[in-house]
Amino acid sequence: MKAMVYHEYGPPEDVLTLDDIDKPVAGDNQVLIKVHSAGVDPSVWHLVTGLPFLVRIMGFGLLKPRYTIAGWDVAGQVEAVGKNVQQFRPGDEVFGTCRGSFAEYACAAEDKFIAKPSNLTLAQAAAIPVSGLTALQGLRDVAKVQPGQKVLVIGAGGGVGSYAVQIAKAFGTEVTGVCSTAKVDMVRSIGADFVIDYTKDDLSKNGQRYDCIIDTGGRRPLSHLRRVLAPEGTLVGVGGEGGGRWTGGFLGDLIKTFAISPFTSQRLRSMMARTTRADLVVLKDLIEAGKVTPALDRTFPLAEAATAIRYLTDRKVRGKCVITV
Ligand SMILES: NC(=O)c1ccc[n+]([C@@H]2O[C@H](COP(=O)([O-])OP(=O)(O)OC[C@H]3O[C@@H](n4cnc5c(N)ncnc54)[C@H](OP(=O)(O)O)[C@@H]3O)[C@@H](O)[C@H]2O)c1
Repeated sequence: MKAMVYHEYGPPEDVLTLDDIDKPVAGDNQVLIKVHSAGVDPSVWHLVTGLPFLVRIMGFGLLKPRYTIAGWDVAGQVEAVGKNVQQFRPGDEVFGTCRGSFAEYACAAEDKFIAKPSNLTLAQAAAIPVSGLTALQGLRDVAKVQPGQKVLVIGAGGGVGSYAVQIAKAFGTEVTGVCSTAKVDMVRSIGADFVIDYTKDDLSKNGQRYDCIIDTGGRRPLSHLRRVLAPEGTLVGVGGEGGGRWTGGFLGDLIKTFAISPFTSQRLRSMMARTTRADLVVLKDLIEAGKVTPALDRTFPLAEAATAIRYLTDRKVRGKCVITV
């Protein structure tokens, strides 16, 4: 089968190649998917470049990548199932996460997938898992948002942010999205009550305090964010790029948060999203109820995976982009 493969860390355009490799075989508890589409998100860039170095010591290979096919998010058709698989049959259309989705076929445990939302294409479904799960778990489990609260989404025009805006609206909150000029119309179109173009307006000077801040743009000083966070509000640090080659700014942020937390009533939290069937079902239900729609910017063919990753890291994507196989 064809797959986007890398055998060393480096810039995606240098190390990713379209190779012919063996088709995977589903284990007893696994599902083999004929990939239709694969979502692109910053974790793909981190794993291909091996940056920040922290990702390498998290089990992805110190000097060379341990997993050599790119991609996580996937949507496609079940091709074969292992002997213990109960939920699926060949031909079912599913979406979820797996290792190596930038390929014609990919395998993962059956609990990483559910049936595709009936009102979406497979390309739209591939744009859901990592970003949608992160937004859902950040708002519901970490911030525990309640109807009527004010939620600020930083990076509202990105993958996680575009889901956070819509899910926060579905939870009955008042949502303000923060993004650059090119993404303002998109953020408004997905339902944000207010949009702040940070290139024109200073977030800390609008006099508002928010019960919850979902920060996916990262890299804004904690002191700035705390100024716009309500006294009992929750800051959910999802991520942010450009924080340095060693830990991506993660360690520094963690130390600052630990140092400040005992002295403030504000809740300062970071998070790590997980793929669970239950939460994929929550997302599917929100989508089928018409409350959330993947903001799919554009698709790229498999052979142009490196261009797709560059499109993302150049901050051109409005919402999500997807590889079609
Ligand atoms: N904790 C977790 O479990 C988890 C899960 C998924 C993702 N993440 C992390 O969360 C962050 C957001 O993910 P995402 O999928 O939403 O990414 P994305 O689609 O690239 O969106 C990020 C948004 O942040 C804004 N941004 C501000 N400064 C930026 C910079 N220096 N570089 C790039 N973008 C910048 C961009 O919008 P403007 O152009 O409008 O500024 C962009 O739309 C990433 O760091 C990702 O690794 C964490």
